[in-house]
Amino acid sequence: MCALSVPAIALTRGTNGEEVLVPQLGLGTYKVSDDEAERVVCDALEVGYRHIDTAQMYGNEAGVGRAIKASGLARQDLFITSKLNNPNHRREDALRSLDATMEALDLEVLDLFLVHWPLADSPGIDLVDTWRTMIEILHSGRVRAIGVSNYQPEHLNRIVEATGVVPAVNQVELHPWLTQSELRSVHEQLGVVTESWSPLGRGRLLTDPKVIEIADAIGVSPAQVVIRWHLQSSLVVIPKSTHRERMTANADVVGFTLDDAHMTALDALDQGVRTGSHPDRIQV
Ligand SMILES: NC(=O)c1ccc[n+]([C@@H]2O[C@H](COP(=O)([O-])OP(=O)(O)OC[C@H]3O[C@@H](n4cnc5c(N)ncnc54)[C@H](OP(=O)(O)O)[C@@H]3O)[C@@H](O)[C@H]2O)c1
Repeated sequence: MCALSVPAIALTRGTNGEEVLVPQLGLGTYKVSDDEAERVVCDALEVGYRHIDTAQMYGNEAGVGRAIKASGLARQDLFITSKLNNPNHRREDALRSLDATMEALDLEVLDLFLVHWPLADSPGIDLVDTWRTMIEILHSGRVRAIGVSNYQPEHLNRIVEATGVVPAVNQVELHPWLTQSELRSVHEQLGVVTESWSPLGRGRLLTDPKVIEIADAIGVSPAQVVIRWHLQSSLVVIPKSTHRERMTANADVVGFTLDDAHMTALDALDQGVRTGSHPDRIQV
């Protein structure tokens, strides 16, 4: 068993000054049931994945935890992300839900904890209050880094201006049909790492004629082309598959490169197309 030879990206300095590094390629687990998660994550860890993305909302943290334990891997060799669920934004709920997350995952320290959705227009919820609770959680030492997900530029600016604490990561829908260039420049200015969710457009990008044309020209699969585009774009990427052979192929992306013409052609596929929810439409 060996770790994948993908690079790691520096997220932040943790509370004790250590640099927190995230493996650039991880495994997504959305829509993987708790029962299935143990087998899926065991397969991924055997294939060489060392970065797993779960969430309170997915209901599979316990299955992920069982796989981590069964793998026998050293804790420091793994990078585990979870996310604060929408009903848990208030301080007491957030702290209680983190207890449940740690128990389910059977971990003492989580590598990255994200606010799953901004809930900017939800009554009784305040972006800044939620972020202050996340900062308190960081200072408690139970997580190595904190970040957000699905935040728009105005959400990022509000929490940074109010607290002075920059999220390590913003995990957003991002793929060649939705390149999020404006948001990525805000991330660059603030020093936020961009992480791509639904990096394959939930599989739909794999039938895009341009993606297929590039894949055929290089002799790799459409999924490998899209994942390689994320890596070469300096994005953290978490494709999900429940199939071991697809996980293996999705991680086999270091033996080829996309040239400038391929990268430009893939960038040009941007049509602002979302395959998931718009952040403004999610409320508690
Ligand atoms: N923060 C958020 O709000 C948010 C929202 C959505 C997702 N996420 C995270 O991002 C992760 C990835 O996003 P996603 O799961 O929505 O979509 P995705 O990774 O873009 O695509 C997953 C789909 O592609 C298929 N697939 C994967 N590799 C393939 C291959 N080599 N060939 C053909 N089909 C392939 C999978 O099928 P099989 O499983 O059958 O192989 C699945 O149907 C999630 O799992 C989750 O961890 C976060």
